[in-house]
Amino acid sequence: MAEIVLGPVAGGEVITSQEGAMSAIVSLHHVSKEFPRQGRSGPAAVLAVDDVSLEVERGSVLGIVGYSGAGKSTLVRLINGLERSTGGSILVKGQDVTHLSERELRKVRAGIGMIFQQFNLLKSRTVYGNVAYPLKVAGWKKEDIKPRVAQLLDFVGIADKGDRYPRRLSGGQQQRVGIARALANNPDILLADEATSALDPETTNEVLKLLRRVNQEFGTTIIVITHEMHVVREICDAVVMMDKGRVVESGETYSVFKQPRAESTRRFVATAVHSRPSRETLDRLATAHPGRLVTVAISETAPTPVVAEIFARLGIHSGVVFGGVTEIQHRILGSLTYELNGDAGAVDAALAQLALLTAIEEHATSSPPVHSATESVLASSGGAS
Ligand SMILES: Nc1ncnc2c1ncn2[C@@H]1O[C@H](COP(=O)(O)OP(=O)(O)OP(=O)(O)O)[C@@H](O)[C@H]1O
Ligand SMILES: [Mg+2]
Repeated sequence: MAEIVLGPVAGGEVITSQEGAMSAIVSLHHVSKEFPRQGRSGPAAVLAVDDVSLEVERGSVLGIVGYSGAGKSTLVRLINGLERSTGGSILVKGQDVTHLSERELRKVRAGIGMIFQQFNLLKSRTVYGNVAYPLKVAGWKKEDIKPRVAQLLDFVGIADKGDRYPRRLSGGQQQRVGIARALANNPDILLADEATSALDPETTNEVLKLLRRVNQEFGTTIIVITHEMHVVREICDAVVMMDKGRVVESGETYSVFKQPRAESTRRFVATAVHSRPSRETLDRLATAHPGRLVTVAISETAPTPVVAEIFARLGIHSGVVFGGVTEIQHRILGSLTYELNGDAGAVDAALAQLALLTAIEEHATSSPPVHSATESVLASSGGAS
């Protein structure tokens, strides 16, 4: 597979510039991980990660998305050396971690924080004890630990919960402890494996906001594994789609949402963007609205006021009957379905102008559109001659 650099993207194309490559904090080159067959009668060998090349830009938030079993967790476990690759090379901050001893790996791991779906807190220790633990292991002086833990708990918004035991905290609070613990030794990389999957939507958003702050205030590079495109939409600068161990698509989040290329990416994006009407919805809309129905992709190249202006200039009466517009990475994206009424030629002209700016799709209406009536007239007159 071609090398992928998750750097700045122009027009949906991934730029593989030297500059982009230099700012990579993690680089994978043709990395594979095969789990061997377990004994003669055990399950067959699994190629969990298959020839993956990618670069994670320093200071960015990268999302790794894919169905269950795609190899996402294995990929991040390779990055922090919890698994050994069976092929390729993995550079973390310029250091090849594929052949390091366990002792050397521990040093690399000290610069990588990790948070988990089930929080993985020590049940027998208080919140304070959980966050102090990695500091003790790292050899911090006793008098320095206390203010550091206080600072971390304050940052994650649970300054008053230090004495509590994890079982007396909500899921969101437990994940805040997990984040405080992961940040204790100031890692420059944070790995989050399904960190919000056990949380309700509101708590998910709070934790995502916190992760965004971690990224912005400390410059921490964050790699987020998730099933949820909502998570990608909220915090990721770039996204990698994995399928059966391979990277099938990657790019800047906005571009991937705007124009997903792989079939699996399209299905994932559709779970977070509901602005296009389904076939059933279109049938209902066609019954309720006698005008011409057209779905217009809204993006920076065709924002809503520009579309409205084109319709207005040509004297077309337009009404939005379905759709939605949202922001991804502070850039507008969505889709609006309009009912258009007016002179058939004017509508055709407006659609031709729009087609130069963005993707449009005209849907069949319940009453035949005027131009197809004209075509049938032409056809029948042609047949008569
Ligand atoms: N220690 C292991 N031994 C054998 N096979 C493994 C091991 N760990 C993972 N696998 C296999 O590797 C493949 C990828 O697993 P992985 O856990 O990386 O997927 P995932 O994308 O994280 O899935 P999920 O979304 O369910 O967490 C799966 O087929 C899995 O069964
Ligand atoms: Mg997993």
